[in-house]
Amino acid sequence: MKILVIESSPHKHGSSNLLAAEFRRGAEEAGHDVTVFDAGHTKLNPCLGCGACGMSGPCVQKDDMTVLREQLLDSDMAVFVTPLYYFGFSAQLKTVIDRFYSFNGQLTEKGLKTALIVAAWDSNSWTMQDVKTHYETLCRYLNFQNQGEILGVGCGTVQMTKRTRFPQEAYAMGKRIGG
Ligand SMILES: Cc1cc2nc3c(=O)[nH]c(=O)nc-3n(C[C@H](O)[C@H](O)[C@H](O)COP(=O)(O)O)c2cc1C
Repeated sequence: MKILVIESSPHKHGSSNLLAAEFRRGAEEAGHDVTVFDAGHTKLNPCLGCGACGMSGPCVQKDDMTVLREQLLDSDMAVFVTPLYYFGFSAQLKTVIDRFYSFNGQLTEKGLKTALIVAAWDSNSWTMQDVKTHYETLCRYLNFQNQGEILGVGCGTVQMTKRTRFPQEAYAMGKRIGG
């Protein structure tokens, strides 16, 4: 299976990307073909809401979304990876999602398999409540086939993350995907 991992942290070597790397290790061991798109270090502009695409492209903006769109439509699965920012996705990931607008229909038709990986500092019972609901609502609307969620609470730094169960859980999710 072709899997696209969409990272979205400003920290290249931070907590969420550590979990993403563990997912990737498991998925590659299971024989999948994994590509990473790092939305945290690329040129992506927010949706202009101009409506020129009519929700089925092309987008008037010429930036790295052109690459991501191709990669996504060519993949069987996407993994959304984000630090928790004020109980939601990072702005980098939200920008990616908003730009789905220009190929909303194509994406919905695909029935893309997806998963979510989040790293947060806190570990309250409600820390991940809103990001989880937002992701699951997106799955419902865009016809994504949810394959799993790694909601990494207490993952505020790489050191903290390594002491949790979440790297192992991310690896295990990679291993079992499509199995
Ligand atoms: C702008 C900003 C907002 C944040 N909001 C939250 C939050 O709502 N809840 C939380 O537990 N941690 C929050 N954090 C902490 C990060 O989610 C946490 O440090 C995470 O491990 C960062 O992941 P990264 O290393 O992949 O960037 C926030 C950090 C920043 C910079």
